[in-house]
Amino acid sequence: MTSEIYPITDRMLTREDHERLLQQKGCVLWFTGLSGSGKSTLALALERELYRKGRVCRLLDGDNVRGGICAGLGFSQEDRKENIRRVAEVARLFKETGIITLCSFVSPTRDLREMAKEIIGEEDFVEVYVSTPIEVCEERDVKGLYAKARQGAIKDFTGVSAPYEEPRNPQVSIDTSKESLEVSINRLLSYVI
Ligand code: ADX
Repeated sequence: MTSEIYPITDRMLTREDHERLLQQKGCVLWFTGLSGSGKSTLALALERELYRKGRVCRLLDGDNVRGGICAGLGFSQEDRKENIRRVAEVARLFKETGIITLCSFVSPTRDLREMAKEIIGEEDFVEVYVSTPIEVCEERDVKGLYAKARQGAIKDFTGVSAPYEEPRNPQVSIDTSKESLEVSINRLLSYVI
């Protein structure tokens, strides 16, 4: 099958062409952490700030893509892997277009994040660990999912009935129960600009 496929990559505009046009470098900031840890809030605030500074960026968020390119995928290990694989491939395309790409996914295990890093390319991948403790996430319970998971109404819920493996060497760690949004955003900006 693959022998009947003829990619045109070598004739397309290059990443450098896009970066020259946009006057910026493409990269991927990968936010990982528990549900309710503050990943989306951080990514949204960073997106606004980058826009204000005249940068082109794209935010990819778990709850959004699961309604589109990842529709139909659940939360088994296998489905999470396919979710992250698709998202990482999309992030790579944005990055290759010179776009600052913000990915906000629970991405609970090291092998999942390793796969994302491999697809995207290590030199363009910044791992941001949103380390807010589970007690705080559960106390917030913005979507009411922790309560449901504790009652057993949701199975395989990360932090309750499915594992979360902390990153070993994230470039950035942010505990949103300890650090203000403003300080976090300034720290993140230094990785992008
Ligand atoms: S991932 O594990 O595959 O990376 P993803 O970030 O796309 O997860 O989706 C996580 C979001 O889905 C959570 O923020 C939460 O709103 C919702 N969700 C629903 N069921 C689960 C579950 N079993 N575990 C974790 N998140 C869940």
